[in-house]
Parts: sequence; structure tokens; C-alpha cells
Amino acid sequence: MSRIALYPGSFDPPTRGHEDLIRRAAILADELVVAVVGNPSKQPAFTTAERLDLLRATVGDLPNVRFDAFEGLLADYARRIGAQFLVRGLRAVGDFEYEYQMALMNRQLHPGLETIFLVPASGLTYVSASLVREVARFGGDVGPLVHPVVAAALARRFAR
Ligand code: PNS
Repeated sequence: MSRIALYPGSFDPPTRGHEDLIRRAAILADELVVAVVGNPSKQPAFTTAERLDLLRATVGDLPNVRFDAFEGLLADYARRIGAQFLVRGLRAVGDFEYEYQMALMNRQLHPGLETIFLVPASGLTYVSASLVREVARFGGDVGPLVHPVVAAALARRFAR
């Protein structure tokens, strides 16, 4: 049976941290589905379609990775695509409480789905999409934190 892993997130925008995690997760699974949440409660900087394009530009070279979007409950989406593993990143202790709670809630909703936590490269543990957006919005250099295609998209989005 092929091992399907699901890496869900906002990816608004994808960062080098996301990329690092996707490359690590792709080694563990036969197929990795990177899924963008189309969350109407948040006002994203990039549309779902744009975030998917930015992901493809960043990690589109990986043959066993496919990209998708979903709305509604993650557990339901995981069931629909037949994923057995849910991948999430842990950068620091600050991430732990929310991730732990989410893992247990997802287990309650879908007992067959096992959450796996991966740790990014140590040099990327401070990188978050929200900080990247904030730095880019005020004209700071996000070059080392995102793929050049993402940096260009941020520059266009926050052009003054
Ligand atoms: O990149 P993020 O914003 O940390 O990802 C959060 C995400 C998309 C994994 C989470 O918000 C999610 O699962 N949303 C879908 C709705 C859902 O299932 N909520 C209950 C989670 S226990």
C-alpha cells in the first residue's frame, strides 16, 4: 500500500522553512500532498491559486509531490485523499501547544490519520510566513527567507 502524506498549511507565502519541510517529508512518503487551506476567516496576502503557483515554483522539482487546495475540515480532506500521515513542522517550543492540540483533535476526528512532526534546519527555525509578510510589507530584505519567485511576488504585492 502506498504511503500518502499530507502537509497542509496556509503557505501565505511559502518560505524556505516550508520548502525544507516539504523536501524532508517527500523522502518519507511515496506521495506527498501539499495542500493549501482556502480559509475564508483569514485575509491572505495571496490567493489560493497564487499560493499554489508559488509552491510549484519553490518545490515543483520533486516528482512525488503534488499540490492541492481544500476547504473545510482537514480530517475530512485527509480521508477523501486517502492520506495516512499528516505532516506538521515544529520550529520551537512556541509551536508545540497549538500543534499538540491540533494533532489530538485531528486524531479524534480521524483516528486513522497519524500526525508526524518534522523539525526544519536549525537556521530556519525563526522563519514564519507572517514575519516574512511583515518584513516584505515594510520593504525589508526577505531574499534569504524565500525562493526568488516568492520574493518577487512579495515585492509586487507590497509595492509602494
Ligand atoms: O500554516 P498554518 O496556518 O499553521 O496551517 C493551519 C492549518 C491549515 C493546518 C489548520 O488551520 C487547519 O487544519 N485548517 C482546516 C480546518 C480544520 O480542520 N480545523 C481544525 C484543526 S484541528
